[in-house]
Amino acid sequence: MEILVFETAGKASAFAAEKFIEQISQKPNSLLGMATGGTVVSLYQKIIEAYQQKRVSFASARTVNLDEYVGLSPDNAQSYAYYMYSKLFDHIDLPKENIFLLDGLGVVDSELKRFNEFLLQNPIDLQLLGIGTNGHIGFNEPSSQFQLGPHLVDLAEETIKSNSRFFKPGETMPTQAISMGIRDIMLAGKVLLLAFGKAKADAICKMVNSTTVDPMLPVSVLNLRRNVTIVLDKELAQAAGL
Ligand code: PGA
Repeated sequence: MEILVFETAGKASAFAAEKFIEQISQKPNSLLGMATGGTVVSLYQKIIEAYQQKRVSFASARTVNLDEYVGLSPDNAQSYAYYMYSKLFDHIDLPKENIFLLDGLGVVDSELKRFNEFLLQNPIDLQLLGIGTNGHIGFNEPSSQFQLGPHLVDLAEETIKSNSRFFKPGETMPTQAISMGIRDIMLAGKVLLLAFGKAKADAICKMVNSTTVDPMLPVSVLNLRRNVTIVLDKELAQAAGL
């Protein structure tokens, strides 16, 4: 595991963008595992800038997302499908047919099956991760056991509280989601985790110092991998005592 600390979240995001560019230049048809949330917005902005500067093309790349809220249609501005198009896909040359996204309004069992089949047939080359304050990765919430593959999740109270900041008054935040499982994340060729700010310090500190793998701290499973790069800002690193 490689832990890198940058002066600012902006500099950390610029580094992460270079990792994506490097991946695509080494293997243009890479399958990129994408994440959503506040942390990766600046990374996606930097990828768009690199594309505009003709430093990278996604014409052969493929993507799959970690998760999606249940109950939100892809054109709902709060869905992760909408997030991906508005924050990244609409601004680069990634072909629409190379994008795998879940339908939050689809029949859950059918979506889980479709997701599972896709992941079993298509190994992820580079998986991007954020982390929840409770140590979740994707929407693999703290639990007594890990779920291997795609599964339906009852979102943790802490996640609902934290993500409700993105919902406007009058909008109801879903309480369930479909998430990639731990197997899917662990089978990715490379993992790049971004975490910024004091709020994530506790989860990162526990992960770095853990000597066991604990499903109550899902991110701790990354300790079983070699190829993981954890990208932090100084604010988080200092608060975590790293
Ligand atoms: P955030 O979410 O980037 O919005 O903090 C990350 C996550 O919950 O995985």
